[in-house]
Amino acid sequence: MSPKSLISLAAAPLAGQARVPGDKSISHRALMLGALAIGQSSIEGLLEGEDVLRTAAAMRALGAEVTRRDDGCWTLFGRGVGGLAEPEDVLDMGNAGTGARLLMGLLASHPFTSVFTGDASLRSRPMRRVTDPLSRMGAGFVGRSGGRLPMAVIGTASPIPISYELPMPSAQVKSAVLLAGLNTPGTTTVIEREATRDHTELMLTGFGATLTVESLPNGTRAISLIGQPELTGRTIKVPADPSSAAFPVVAGLLVGGSTITVNAVGTNPLRGGLYRTLLEMGADITFVNARVEAGEPVADLLVRASDLSGVDVPPDRAPSMIDEYPILAVAAAFARGTTRMRGLAELRVKESDRLAAMAQGLQAAGVRLSVEGDDLIVEGDGAPPEGGVTIAVNLDHRIAMSFLVMGMAARRPIKIDDASAIDTSFPGFAALMNGLGARISQAAEAK
Ligand code: S3P
Repeated sequence: MSPKSLISLAAAPLAGQARVPGDKSISHRALMLGALAIGQSSIEGLLEGEDVLRTAAAMRALGAEVTRRDDGCWTLFGRGVGGLAEPEDVLDMGNAGTGARLLMGLLASHPFTSVFTGDASLRSRPMRRVTDPLSRMGAGFVGRSGGRLPMAVIGTASPIPISYELPMPSAQVKSAVLLAGLNTPGTTTVIEREATRDHTELMLTGFGATLTVESLPNGTRAISLIGQPELTGRTIKVPADPSSAAFPVVAGLLVGGSTITVNAVGTNPLRGGLYRTLLEMGADITFVNARVEAGEPVADLLVRASDLSGVDVPPDRAPSMIDEYPILAVAAAFARGTTRMRGLAELRVKESDRLAAMAQGLQAAGVRLSVEGDDLIVEGDGAPPEGGVTIAVNLDHRIAMSFLVMGMAARRPIKIDDASAIDTSFPGFAALMNGLGARISQAAEAK
């Protein structure tokens, strides 16, 4: 067993309040746009997880001044749109797909070559989804077979604005094209058939770019950015990440007798699919004190243990909860009845193949399920599943946390072989959960 192996035992009823770390999507974008803005930007509540720290290091390597103050606030002095400088070394983005893909977009329209790499997970992930549109804008790419990292991005001095319809619902691809459009003369347009998270659009507008969102008659959205704006430094307050809040929230629902509050969680509707689904399953979650903090809607979530029922989750909900299917599958395993999660093709190309990881792990833990095409169907009888397994995490933070939550309410403990990936998005996860009543600790004996 690796020294990073953790075990999760049956928890006491959870009680108390917690604040989970800052939103990962917003944190990456804040660092990138702050590095392009004129003047000072300040970021409060930045996620200090591995993924985001890689982006901070990359922005420094590209010439921005990025500092963490003792009070935890991050400040940046940007270089102006188009003002990033050639990095002296390879940009190692670690585990971070968002960091890598967004930055490849940004650098596609800078006239120098940069080289990207990452950990074994990131090096296995498809990059053609960004290199295809960015090539049309004039950038060149030299990578490994299958369009994988390590990869050189040969930025163009004469970028061409494009209008690009996304072939898959992906905020990362949308953002890569829009960020390339920043240093491109003319108007760059991205058309999406299904709305994906809009943090890039909101933040570009907040920094002073001119961006329009047009709803087309066929239900698609056209997002257009006028290139070469002057961005002005600003203050960003990062809300708590709804994707991270999902773990204590589902734990609170599953562990009998629990009542917890998770504070200041981002409630952007394009991220809200899990919460909507849990409410449909009969979850007792109340959104209290809803407010807007520095442009982002947030609320405190009051969660009480609940008996859940299986539901049908439509495929068009996937973009608003794409990172939450692993923990939803855990909730479904404790629910009474069938939960059908439809249209999960994109889950196969995340930090790991999450569809396969959840199906294998849950089955090993005694859950009845099937995979039909891109659908995951979980059958619950309302009783806690057996548990008693060790899960191979394969560098996937959300697989790791999902199974630790499952161990809190399963009949027998659940171990994960390697917890190190959790730090990419949720540093302090085990301590926070234990503070609420979980019993997550270093796994003692070898298996
Ligand atoms: C993200 C978009 C999603 C999500 C990822 C963060 C973003 O990826 O899974 O964790 O910040 O834009 P895709 O765009 O590939 O769906």
